[in-house]
Amino acid sequence: MVDVSHASLNYGDLNDARSGRVPVGAVLGSDAAGAVVQAAADGTGPAVGTQVVALTSGAFAERVAIDVGALAGIPKNLEPAQAVALPVAGVAALRSLRAAGLGPGKRVLITGASGGVGRFAVQLAARAGAHVIASVGSATRREGLAEAGAGEVLIGLEGLQRPVDVVIDSVGGPQLVAAWNLLAPGGSVQSVGWTSGEPAVFPPYATVGPAKSLTSFVIEGDAGADLAVLTELAAEGAVTVEIGWQGSWDRFNEAAEALRGRRIPGKAVLEVARGELHAPIPSPQD
Ligand SMILES: NC(=O)c1ccc[n+]([C@@H]2O[C@H](COP(=O)([O-])OP(=O)(O)OC[C@H]3O[C@@H](n4cnc5c(N)ncnc54)[C@H](OP(=O)(O)O)[C@@H]3O)[C@@H](O)[C@H]2O)c1
Repeated sequence: MVDVSHASLNYGDLNDARSGRVPVGAVLGSDAAGAVVQAAADGTGPAVGTQVVALTSGAFAERVAIDVGALAGIPKNLEPAQAVALPVAGVAALRSLRAAGLGPGKRVLITGASGGVGRFAVQLAARAGAHVIASVGSATRREGLAEAGAGEVLIGLEGLQRPVDVVIDSVGGPQLVAAWNLLAPGGSVQSVGWTSGEPAVFPPYATVGPAKSLTSFVIEGDAGADLAVLTELAAEGAVTVEIGWQGSWDRFNEAAEALRGRRIPGKAVLEVARGELHAPIPSPQD
């Protein structure tokens, strides 16, 4: 059981809210950080007082019960506000790059590079020795991406002619089709998201030719082990967490509108305002 001090806002959380998939009254949110207030009954997992970060359902809460496999301890030199930006966006970036078969010297295109998943993907791909091409929607959204490791930063796919080996796509629509056309034989597109909301129309025969793949992606299973990798990288400074918006969760609407309006570089972090004193944790005898 964790007392949540910070949550982060993902594009997917806003999709969940509108999807109809989440029952009325259920608690939204996926990324939580805070202190353990009750350890797992079977003795596994961190002790009371440990600062942890997790990818869990129901993260927009003051207190949440989390599977031990879904969390990682926060290293001493990493702030919870930074750690909480890592779960959904960082794990999606890490796993999609892994699934694509990244290696040194590969040309990697990251679309939606200004956002949460995109910024982590740029940094992780660059760290793995890839030549990273970051695609953003407008000139103001380029900020910080060259420093994050992008060798090229493009508006859309303007001017990109040489084939790429890997695409991490979170935009979908016509840009996905264009990215597919740029993919080299043997290459891999990971379809992580679809922020454009537009259909992708493949011209006839676009999918006929030397083998290359378009793979759907979703985060499945426990994220704790990957979160441990990401928190260590962040604590070492090998991955930088860019927080483009931070404030009380009382200002949730403001954060959501800014995210939807493409005004947040990197991540939005919500500080969980504490209410009245919590009820005591019930013991097994109660
Ligand atoms: N499959 C999974 O497991 C998984 C995990 C994480 C995220 N996702 C999905 O991945 C996507 C990105 O998530 P995120 O958390 O990184 O979101 P984010 O932080 O809001 O970033 C999304 C980026 O997409 C671009 N974008 C937004 N609206 C757009 C539009 N109408 N047309 C073109 N580009 C647009 C923006 O870049 P510019 O402003 O530069 O255009 C923005 O920086 C979402 O669709 C999310 O649901 C999926």
